[in-house]
Amino acid sequence: MKPTPPQKDLNRLVASIGTTLDRFITQRQQEFPYAKGELSQILRDVGLAAKIVHKAMMSSGLIGIEGPAGERNVQGEDQQKLDVVANVRFVRALTRGQEVCAIISEENEHLIDTGNPQAKYIVAMDPLDGSSNIDVNVPVGTIFSIYRRQSPVGQPPTPADVLQKGADQVASGYVLYGSSLILTYTTGYGVNSFTYDHTIGEFILSHPNLKTKEHGQIFSYNEGNYHDFGQGTRAYLQHCRDQRYTARYVGSLVADFHRNLLKGGIFFYPATAKSPQGKLRLLYECNALAFLAEQAGGQATNGHQRILEIVPTHIHQRSPLIIGSAGMVADALRFIDQPEG
Ligand code: AHG
Ligand code: MN
Ligand code: MN
Repeated sequence: MKPTPPQKDLNRLVASIGTTLDRFITQRQQEFPYAKGELSQILRDVGLAAKIVHKAMMSSGLIGIEGPAGERNVQGEDQQKLDVVANVRFVRALTRGQEVCAIISEENEHLIDTGNPQAKYIVAMDPLDGSSNIDVNVPVGTIFSIYRRQSPVGQPPTPADVLQKGADQVASGYVLYGSSLILTYTTGYGVNSFTYDHTIGEFILSHPNLKTKEHGQIFSYNEGNYHDFGQGTRAYLQHCRDQRYTARYVGSLVADFHRNLLKGGIFFYPATAKSPQGKLRLLYECNALAFLAEQAGGQATNGHQRILEIVPTHIHQRSPLIIGSAGMVADALRFIDQPEG
């Protein structure tokens, strides 16, 4: 007769796998009352595209997906092959999910009409954030914002659908392709982060109800732009050094943001000589992360105004960005608001 395994072994064998993304969205459906499962579908579409992009990324060095695609995007930047691959994968997944009527993408000059006129939602996205890091195996990301359309259902989408201020987002999030594959999002009821379990092919809730610290010890900015910054910004950065804060800068906004979200910190990308309006794009980088930052107790500003209050006039417009722990952003603004000495 085989000995009965001790209960602890059985407990381990039948332990819960945790809460899957689908289960979590269903449990929280009441937070998205006007959606009869549409948000679930859009997040499932994002999760599917993320897995496919991650798959390509993991073997990029082997399948020749590294390097430039040979085209320049509307930003005037050399598109990397993985920018193009990620863009195709996310546009296709969101289009086939049929819950999105239009997409704004960093990689497309104009609004993409998905041919789903009955769909009620718009997505603004940066399909691959941190392109300069792709070929050197440094974490990169995807950033997305979800809005309700303004034009009548059944009609083609219009520019008014996509030029909405960040405060009107119904959801936003990011994918981080790092040592683990992470999907983080908010629908305005807190921030929740999911880690992909490759063994069962599911995103599992790993960081419920994320809150950032009121004050952190990490500051992130590209030191190479220091001489372009205003006197107040330079004075705040000197304050960070005087406080012996830790300098961390990955060069992928999603990676820098995610670290600061978990550990507390502040990220700066002010206006520079090369990018007098700032480098980062309002619709599909700043707004999405500003919504998450505020939902996690942090703040996001362009140095003069709350990011989420900026009314966009162009789908690819840029903005200076100061984002992270509320106490650190407040400190930075105090230095920036000092009259130029
Ligand atoms: P993208 O790859 O989508 O163009 O975004 C890159 C952005 C952002 O990820 C990062 O914070 C910033 O560019 C880095 O800019 P610098 O290389 O000028 O520091
Ligand atoms: Mn980007
Ligand atoms: Mn990008």
